[in-house]
Amino acid sequence: MSEQNPLLEGLRLRRSPDSCALVVFGASGDLTRRKIFPALYSLAVRRLLPERFGVVGVARTEQTTKQWIAAMKKAVAEHGRDELEADVWEELAAGMRYVATDFADDRGEDAVVEALDALDERRGIEGNRLYYLAVPPAAFETIVTELGERRGSAGWTRLIVEKPFGNDRDSAQRLNEILGRHFAEEEVFRIDHYLGKETVQNMLALRFANGIFEPIWNRQFIDHVQITVAESIGIEGRAAFYEQAGAIRDVFQNHLLQLIALTAMEPPIDFTADAVRNEKVKVLRSLHTPGPKSVVRGQYGRGFVEGEEVPGYREEPDVGSDSGTETYVAAKLYVDNWRWADTPFYVRAGKRMPRRETTIAIQFQRAPHPPFAEIAGEGLRPNVLLIHVQPDEGVALAIGAKVPGAGMSIRTVHMDFLFGGAFRTSLPEAYERLILDAMLGDATLFTRADEVDEQWALVDAIVAGWKRDRPAFPNYPAGSWGPAPADDLLHRDGRSWRRH
Ligand code: BG6
Repeated sequence: MSEQNPLLEGLRLRRSPDSCALVVFGASGDLTRRKIFPALYSLAVRRLLPERFGVVGVARTEQTTKQWIAAMKKAVAEHGRDELEADVWEELAAGMRYVATDFADDRGEDAVVEALDALDERRGIEGNRLYYLAVPPAAFETIVTELGERRGSAGWTRLIVEKPFGNDRDSAQRLNEILGRHFAEEEVFRIDHYLGKETVQNMLALRFANGIFEPIWNRQFIDHVQITVAESIGIEGRAAFYEQAGAIRDVFQNHLLQLIALTAMEPPIDFTADAVRNEKVKVLRSLHTPGPKSVVRGQYGRGFVEGEEVPGYREEPDVGSDSGTETYVAAKLYVDNWRWADTPFYVRAGKRMPRRETTIAIQFQRAPHPPFAEIAGEGLRPNVLLIHVQPDEGVALAIGAKVPGAGMSIRTVHMDFLFGGAFRTSLPEAYERLILDAMLGDATLFTRADEVDEQWALVDAIVAGWKRDRPAFPNYPAGSWGPAPADDLLHRDGRSWRRH
């Protein structure tokens, strides 16, 4: 009998990526500086990049390759998790080229093709291309069409597509249609960076590599699930984007719904991209559209966060003084299937909360009949399995334990596993894992077209309900845990958000 667990094998096995060129569109942008280059550098430090490798940065900003390399070096020093080592950086920089061009121009792509041909020749890259679209959606169609029409016959071509993936179901379908004209689904890697987080993947390990959780992972044993994506930061100067998006499109549509999908999905038959995504999409499809009473939106006013006074959302640069954009959303959702029927999933996401915290809390049913005297019950709360996605990454199980001393007094204590403590290593950034997986052609941790479609279908239905009335914003002070109606959402069911 084999002792191998195919799911674990999938999590463990690592191949080395083929030689390839990474082409970053949006090479002078924020994402490239904050995430893509620090991730590439960390991969280089760990010798995880292909042996023959090069990066072509493409943007409209006029600058030389030398200037761009200097800017990326600074970005790595500022945002990277590893100390900058001169020899590792030089090796990476030797394969970097910058091309200032506009794809909207007729011959815009020629300069990129020339840079790639030169790279192929010098570094023996053999035509493999990974295109990274870190550009606003408006630039998307032109670039994808050009790439599609000019794709070469040598090597593979893959596309990493950043969020936002559309603004509603129609626009996302249009993007998928444009992609589909030139690329197969296996060649498209839609980023939801939450899927690259170690702790999010740990949900799969926790559920499917352990025998004890799966039998109780259902409506018979679980009272409800709470998912919190709280951020202490505001919108960080991104008003132009955020005014169009709001919390529901920015975080709920993608990160939150993916966390629900991973929590609620059935065991996949193996850890391949389609097996995992087939199960996730079933959950997304089973989500019941919540009625207006089951969704709460909020917008922060002035307040104090981590001891500092901060402006209200409407006072942020480039936000209108009567903006109706939500910076907080909470919902009660149901996954309509045999495993979860009638088990509420309470979820919330907000900016300017008291602190940064992403957790998934699985609250089990109360013990049916605690046989202790009256005093005992006071401290006896239901068991909770807490998955700390960030910060303080780890898992904790809340259990009732006897307080030492006479009598039988019970208190809740935590059995804790902390990533940092157990593995004594700093956790890789989500982008490291995702870029490497795209180079390996493994799409397991990327969202498939049908998942995005289901996610938007739900969001469109919620947003349609919002058009009817204008909420009285702001309705929560910065530095609080959100508007009062979000508490009522749980109180009505005799429950409350987990204490912080
Ligand atoms: C992004 C959103 O997708 O996720 C941001 O656009 C948000 O508004 C960010 O701040 C949160 O990511 P993380 O990894 O910091 O939790």
